[in-house]
Amino acid sequence: MLLQVRDLKVTLQDQGQRLRAVRGVDLDLAAGETLCVVGESGCGKSMTALALMQLLPRGAELSSSKLQFDGIELSKLSRHKLSALRGRRISMIFQEPMTALNPVFTIGDQLRAVYRRHTGVSSAEAQARAIEVLESVGLTNAELRMKQFPHQLSGGLRQRVLIAMALMCEPEMIICDEPTTALDATTQAQILRILKEAQSARKMGMLFITHDLGVVARIADRVAVMYAGRIVEHGSRAAVLRSPAHPYTKGLIASVPRPQDGGTGSKRLASIPGNVPAFHHEDPRCPFLSRCPKRMSICTREAPPVRQTEAGQQVACHLPLDAQEALTA
Ligand SMILES: Nc1ncnc2c1ncn2[C@@H]1O[C@H](COP(=O)(O)OP(=O)(O)O)[C@@H](O)[C@H]1O
Ligand code: SF4
Ligand SMILES: [Mg+2]
Repeated sequence: MLLQVRDLKVTLQDQGQRLRAVRGVDLDLAAGETLCVVGESGCGKSMTALALMQLLPRGAELSSSKLQFDGIELSKLSRHKLSALRGRRISMIFQEPMTALNPVFTIGDQLRAVYRRHTGVSSAEAQARAIEVLESVGLTNAELRMKQFPHQLSGGLRQRVLIAMALMCEPEMIICDEPTTALDATTQAQILRILKEAQSARKMGMLFITHDLGVVARIADRVAVMYAGRIVEHGSRAAVLRSPAHPYTKGLIASVPRPQDGGTGSKRLASIPGNVPAFHHEDPRCPFLSRCPKRMSICTREAPPVRQTEAGQQVACHLPLDAQEALTA
């Protein structure tokens, strides 16, 4: 297994209070596989990704019983070994393209620097590699683009540059945090295709964070549905999208506007009534309790059991599985 995560917890400092942003997450990712982590804004998706990269904000506390990449325990690595791994064997495409690029250096400076830091090759070799990768992500006039600064590029071009930067050293695993959210549908489709091509060429493992179920339907092998710091349902793309079992997953899928209902056809999540709660204390009960239309009295007292459905996904809920299947029907 390329990535194995067990009982990952992230606690942040939030105006003097401890905010439990990630509350016991398990993840596995194999080489060549795409795992989509899906959930509304504020569910802890980005903090999970940043914890894997060991790039959490200042003051954050991280704990886990296992945080292994290719058998290497990431939480025990020295800073030096971590920075040798990041960008080379593991890459991340961040949610904000502008914050991930340095405004005072040209695109070329930044691409060459990443490659030279990890490989020690000459500037000319790094230049050749940068042009090759920029062209592979669909940038025309790559040589000219290399001389430009980030603010001179459109959002779509900047995102391609970030993908190029992440792919420069041919990583074995890539973490993509909502890389296409700000882009128009055509650019989004092109970027997904580029990522999938790069993945299949090298059997790269891809952890893809999104709140867009249309993206999930296109690229996922497996899906982990995240809610308020926990994974509430996890299984193959077909199982989770065709026969969702957890009431939260059902809510997400039901809230996708359908064109025939006068929606825009965009597969963005519309809202489920209520907000994602913030947890300041340990609470073993179901995270969806405050919004769940199927809530029962046992839900207010006991932690939900994790069970396997007939379609093979795992779901953390008190509802009997036969009732869940009936709900699906
Ligand atoms: N730098 C930060 N300091 C304190 N709290 C934060 C910080 N960044 C995010 N949070 C909070 O952590 C929780 C999880 O955030 P995040 O992982 O960014 O969610 P998502 O990526 O799923 O939208 C949210 O409640 C958010 O408000
Ligand atoms: S455990 Fe209870 S509150 Fe949580 S999703 Fe299932 S039915 Fe709803
Ligand atoms: Mg996020």
